Amino acid sequence: MEQYPIVWTLYFLILIQSILQIDTSRPPLRPNKLVSYSLPQKRALKKALGINEDVYLNFTELTAKYNYPTEVHTVTTADGYILKVFRILSKCSETDKQYPVLLLHGIFDTTDLWVVPGTRNGLGYVLADNCYDVWAANHRGNYYSRKHVKLDPDEDQEYWNFTFDEHGNYDLPTCMDYVLRSTGHSKLFFVGHSQGTTDYFVLTSMQPEYNDKVRLAAMLGPVAWMKNLRHPIARIGAQHYMAIKAFSENAGISEILGREHLVHFFLEFICGLVPSFCDIGLSLSTGYKPGSIPLKDISVAVAHELSGTSVKNLAHFSQLILSGRFQRYDEGSEGNLELYGTRKPPQYNVSQITSPILLITAQNDLLSTLKDIDILAPKLPNLVENYVVPEPYWSHHNHLWDLKAPELVFSKILEYFNKYKD
Ligand SMILES: *[C@@H]1O[C@H](CO)[C@@H](O)[C@H](O)[C@H]1NC(C)=O
Ligand SMILES: *[C@@H]1O[C@H](CO)[C@@H](O)[C@H](O)[C@H]1NC(C)=O
Ligand SMILES: *[C@@H]1O[C@H](CO)[C@@H](O)[C@H](O)[C@H]1NC(C)=O
Repeated sequence: MEQYPIVWTLYFLILIQSILQIDTSRPPLRPNKLVSYSLPQKRALKKALGINEDVYLNFTELTAKYNYPTEVHTVTTADGYILKVFRILSKCSETDKQYPVLLLHGIFDTTDLWVVPGTRNGLGYVLADNCYDVWAANHRGNYYSRKHVKLDPDEDQEYWNFTFDEHGNYDLPTCMDYVLRSTGHSKLFFVGHSQGTTDYFVLTSMQPEYNDKVRLAAMLGPVAWMKNLRHPIARIGAQHYMAIKAFSENAGISEILGREHLVHFFLEFICGLVPSFCDIGLSLSTGYKPGSIPLKDISVAVAHELSGTSVKNLAHFSQLILSGRFQRYDEGSEGNLELYGTRKPPQYNVSQITSPILLITAQNDLLSTLKDIDILAPKLPNLVENYVVPEPYWSHHNHLWDLKAPELVFSKILEYFNKYKD
């Protein structure tokens, strides 16, 4: 990475810009939202520039294009967040074979994660081809789920008062119950990537009754303990999170790197026009060996990245990195006393997770390191396997987008799903 000083500089500029939260789609609401473009304008421009349309098509447009009939569902959590859940219908006609699978994406991501590499490498498609009834959830605050019964994400800071703790305690159980109700099944399979696995660990340790609703959970690039995080930017960010958070609060900023912000806009254009730039971008953001994912796929995939989260969520992850504990949000000792009855925030008790867990981990993952997995794995009472992908270069997104993912990762998931059907 040292050989890319210009990219590093750009990267920091982009981060600073995103902290300033320049909005690219809506008219300026607050003084800090400086630039405004409309989505249709962008599309016409992109078409005119000859950008591959997969770069900017949304989930339902992509699945329609590739002939995978998809339903759009809307669920509302107990605390009023309105979430979009997509269902890719199984390719099998016999209904008795169609076991439901719920997919949950990671931070700054959306359901697009599961379909952007196309029909051969998109896990959403592969599961549907293998008879599964595929449900893909979007957690609160992302591009598809930026809605609330009362709160306005553009006006009400309160909307952004959440972390992965709320994803786990509200979003995930609401989606699970919805899928089970809709399909008439009593259990489902789960696949999480990155923060999607964190959300799952939170839910099943805090509301252990949800373990009984899961046949098996496959965890790609799992994140719980973050003591040994190797990612330089994330670590620097964590060290300064108090200052960043205070600055953001002062400026009235609660959302970071949203889909409508300028960074995403640039990313889409750059990935569409100069795919090799996205290659480098991915290697900086999650650690990845350039060249291991086809450039065409990477430009489509990375162009769909960056879908906002809350500043508070980043603060919560920063606390995990700094404390070396997998714990609830730290409000400071007085806040903690009031909220939890203890001065230190309680740790998530992963010993409560009785559902079968398959960990899928990578040797070169800067975010989900093998050292941190070594803290988590022995604590899980029903770990079926800690599978380390046998490729030294493998990192956070290779699980999904690497040309060898079907052979090295998906076959593993399908093998375990088959075993746990009854
Ligand atoms: C995808 O884009 C199309 C066209 O803009 C729109 O009609 C559709 O509602 C979008 N789908 C979702 C799930 O946002
Ligand atoms: C944010 O939510 C927490 C509970 O999760 C609550 O204690 C706190 O008062 C809320 N803060 C604001 C500003 O609404
Ligand atoms: C965590 O859960 C395990 C298993 O249910 C239990 O034995 C243990 O006491 C719990 N630990 C804490 C700190 O609550």
